[in-house]
Amino acid sequence: MVSAVLPLHIAVIMDGNGRWALSLGKKRTYGHYIGSKVVDDITKESVNLKIKYLTLYAFSTENWKRPKTEIKFLISLLHTQITKKENLFKENNVRFNVIGDISVFPQRTRDMLENTIEKTKNNKALTLTLALNYGSKLEITAACKKIAHDTESGRLQACDISENTIEKYLFTKDMPDVDLLIRTGGEKRISNFLLWQSSYAELIFFDKYWPEFTKEDLRDAVHEFQHRKRRFGGL
Ligand code: IPE
Ligand code: IPE
Ligand code: MG
Repeated sequence: MVSAVLPLHIAVIMDGNGRWALSLGKKRTYGHYIGSKVVDDITKESVNLKIKYLTLYAFSTENWKRPKTEIKFLISLLHTQITKKENLFKENNVRFNVIGDISVFPQRTRDMLENTIEKTKNNKALTLTLALNYGSKLEITAACKKIAHDTESGRLQACDISENTIEKYLFTKDMPDVDLLIRTGGEKRISNFLLWQSSYAELIFFDKYWPEFTKEDLRDAVHEFQHRKRRFGGL
């Protein structure tokens, strides 16, 4: 790996689980299961590479349109995986975090997530954030509502609202902007993920499905990032 600047924050749209499983003659849910294991490899490799923030899109606000059986499977997979991953977090000094509106999930799921967030809060190598019931439009709408509320109650002056103010009201309030956004599964779209935070991210698309994604692919993406010329509107 060349010593050029590393991405501080990598975000991943982990897409293609269902198609991958179907291509093998298996059920879509098998793809989600294998996909959840790939998360371990990519987390470890991110720590290895000294990436500080890794944000993974696990369930979007639009994914509720899916059959109930698939949604139920995804929630139960979250339960087993969160418990299983506690060792991974401990051994690799990973802080776990969640973005999205988790109030819609069962109390048991929320307790489990909050418990893992609490247990790992002092870990320093990598912040691994899972986007759950996350959508940028939901996030920005919620931020606008809170800002309007705080302005009405006099805690905020309309003339003082800046980009910084808005950032403080987003789910990602303590996180840096996304430097590198990766999407697997062949689709070339953002699907309502981190729109504000990725406004200047470098985008890398992989045709391969998420269950096929490897640590070498992550290294390749970081390598390509390091060869991109980021101008941020300047020259
Ligand atoms: C991504 O894989 C995981 C989730 C959205 C939960 P998909 O389930 O979207 O898989 P494809 O894109 O249908 O193959
Ligand atoms: C994006 O994948 C959401 C996640 C990976 C969690 P989707 O499969 O839901 O996105 P679309 O439907 O292709 O836009
Ligand atoms: Mg998909």
